Amino acid sequence: MTPVVLIAEELAPAAIEVLAHDFDVRHVDGTDRPALLSALSEADAVIVRSATQIDAEAIAAAPRLKVVARAGVGLDNVEVPAATARGVMVVNAPTSNIVSAAEQALALLLAVARNTASASAALKAGEWKRSKYTGVEIQGKTVGVVGLGRIGVLFAQRIAAFGTRLIAYDPYIQPARAAQLGVRLVGLEELLRESDFISIHLPKTPETVGLIGEKELAVVKPGVRIINAARGGLVDEQALADAIAEGRVAGAGVDVYAKEPCTSSPLFAFDNVVATPHLGASTGEAQDKAGLAVAKSVKLALQGEFVPDA
Ligand code: NAD
Ligand code: MLT
Repeated sequence: MTPVVLIAEELAPAAIEVLAHDFDVRHVDGTDRPALLSALSEADAVIVRSATQIDAEAIAAAPRLKVVARAGVGLDNVEVPAATARGVMVVNAPTSNIVSAAEQALALLLAVARNTASASAALKAGEWKRSKYTGVEIQGKTVGVVGLGRIGVLFAQRIAAFGTRLIAYDPYIQPARAAQLGVRLVGLEELLRESDFISIHLPKTPETVGLIGEKELAVVKPGVRIINAARGGLVDEQALADAIAEGRVAGAGVDVYAKEPCTSSPLFAFDNVVATPHLGASTGEAQDKAGLAVAKSVKLALQGEFVPDA
């Protein structure tokens, strides 16, 4: 019997083509839970992005499942221990979209600094208002990077070119590595107190959820601008909205939300918030790389071969 590969979210056409050569490729909307559970009953592999929850219930619904593939970085929507307990392999594409994600954080930072989105919307609505949209320069500012991993490093390297002073909070990296990048490692409180811009690049784990909440936002440098293109829930959305309303935070760039899809957030009320619908990895290049990497891993796994790191 030809193994069934279930694709639960949008995947690059080139990747589907690779899989269709050897497998019975089926599609389901991973956010339609009953349809997903039903389709999983015959799946040997399932491929997801970030919207589909592959938890213990989903794994239990898939008796033939051998591999869960995440076409991207974050594995927070996959219950890895439940998969491992069943002997189901979990693969991802950890470097596929890191350039796109770093560029998205940078795009949000620039847009927040110069009020690009609100000025554009106002102009299209017939308003020519120059002084209302006066922004700030990046040069000479202190930029705090929270999470100096793959994406945090790419972001830091790029923002350094603007003539910034870089600090980072990441207790898991060596100070020598940070120094090599021209970044000074500091504690979270120092980063909050000193940064003019803060960009978050953390994974979503029990330790990082709500890392930037009311208490942290109470000690930020007044006028800080905060970017989160990592995961929803790392920054408390209501606490951030309150800090913006009080004028302590001068603006925010947000790509990810505690609950997605998200069409309503306290943050959407503000002109100085640039909000995008989880577009960090949404480039043709990143999607091709992620899709092809997981297609290759799924193929090897279903053929019983060794699956190297993507
Ligand atoms: P990574 O694992 O390479 O780096 C994460 C860094 O966070 C590591 O250096 C780690 O030491 C640090 N870290 C972990 N726990 C920490 C804590 N409690 N405090 C401080 N630092 C901590 O991951 P990455 O590839 O750089 O990805 C970062 C995030 O970006 C992930 O959440 C990923 O899902 C997200 N992402 C989002 C998009 C998007 O579309 N918006 C695209 C790609 C990745
Ligand atoms: C990721 O973690 O890779 C991102 O959230 C990208 C995505 O799934 O679209």
